[in-house]
Amino acid sequence: MHVPSLIEKKRDGHKLTAEEIKFLVEGFTDGDIPEYQMSAWAMAVFFRGMNAVETKHLTEAMMNSGRVLKYPKDSPPKIDKHSTGGVGDKVSLVLAPLLACDDAWVPMISGRGLGITGGTLDKLESIPGFNVNLDDRRALKQLDKIGVFMIGQTSDICPADKKLYALRDVTGTVPSQALIVASVMSKKLAENLDRLVLDVKFGSGAFMKTRKEAEQLASAMTEVGEGMGVTTAHLLSPMDEPLGRNVGNALEVAEAVEVLQGRGPDDLTKLIVDLAEKVSKTPRKKLQARLKDGTTWKKFISMVYAQDGDATTLEKITEEHRAPIVEPLKAKKRGKVKKMDAELIGRASVLLGGGRQTSEDQIDFAVGMSAIKKIGEDVDLGEPLMMVHARTETSLNTVLPMLQKAVAIQ
Ligand code: URA
Repeated sequence: MHVPSLIEKKRDGHKLTAEEIKFLVEGFTDGDIPEYQMSAWAMAVFFRGMNAVETKHLTEAMMNSGRVLKYPKDSPPKIDKHSTGGVGDKVSLVLAPLLACDDAWVPMISGRGLGITGGTLDKLESIPGFNVNLDDRRALKQLDKIGVFMIGQTSDICPADKKLYALRDVTGTVPSQALIVASVMSKKLAENLDRLVLDVKFGSGAFMKTRKEAEQLASAMTEVGEGMGVTTAHLLSPMDEPLGRNVGNALEVAEAVEVLQGRGPDDLTKLIVDLAEKVSKTPRKKLQARLKDGTTWKKFISMVYAQDGDATTLEKITEEHRAPIVEPLKAKKRGKVKKMDAELIGRASVLLGGGRQTSEDQIDFAVGMSAIKKIGEDVDLGEPLMMVHARTETSLNTVLPMLQKAVAIQ
């Protein structure tokens, strides 16, 4: 097959066959198709889309680029959650250990930051020593011992998504329904799950800007999941303001620790329990109790140790990663917060160094925003609307005007 012709075929709005899609995915994974061609192809998919059949073929090809996990006979049900990506979305850090408190296994494969949204793997790597690259033997052993692991795509599991995800992050090709479906579902299907819940976000800080687009994305992912025998539930959740009060890698770990210790912000805690309820057989009250009484916190600590992380740093993670500059963004008038634009805040976080602008960029774990006011809260003139954590004066001065624009007070 001729790669330029396949790019042109999609560019001109034609459907690709299963063999053509497989050829592209395998060629890219093996390194035979270079990034510039795959970027052009991803952009063609972004503009032209893929129908349900093409999307299924892409998902299967990506899933089959590596191994599908196998479990011992009579092992507990395998359950998991995945989000389509949001700003301040640290749900997985709490939800994975919460679900693992059931008689269930949670084999979570996550991603890194994508576009303006943060990634679970980058957040986890802000914990000193935390290893997101377990091989499947070690990962399965950990499941047997503590019921949960949190890893990334590897050269063995979903290598196609590992490469395509990193490419999409820096080529403006993230918000494509087909590419999101295939990326999310190839990972979840490689986990060989019994039940899955999808957190499908819509709003300024999400890839789907409207509820209708999110509904379409949810039904496309559900069709693929159910078609492969995974009971797939979903929740549509708004993403116009950041989730919780912190954005940035270590800052989000600190907020997740608050939730794990039963004292996190209400919006975040509620979403975690809402999602847990959709995939767990445990009653809501018991799930809530497991966040309050330290059960989930203990599970999280066991997981951190099991994956070589230094759990003694968890309660002082923002001291481990302290940005040299921490400045308030002050309210220019008194009133109620009417808007706290998640998209601009997410972009500011990337510009501060919390996300990547090229695939080689190193993440700065310390930067971001904390103590972000929520929509509906009262503020006084001059009161901090958030604290901005920056590495340099230059990056601070770049994001301040953007952050002023992100907020409206009435
Ligand atoms: N999460 C993923 O794993 N992939 C996407 O494309 C978006 C969110």
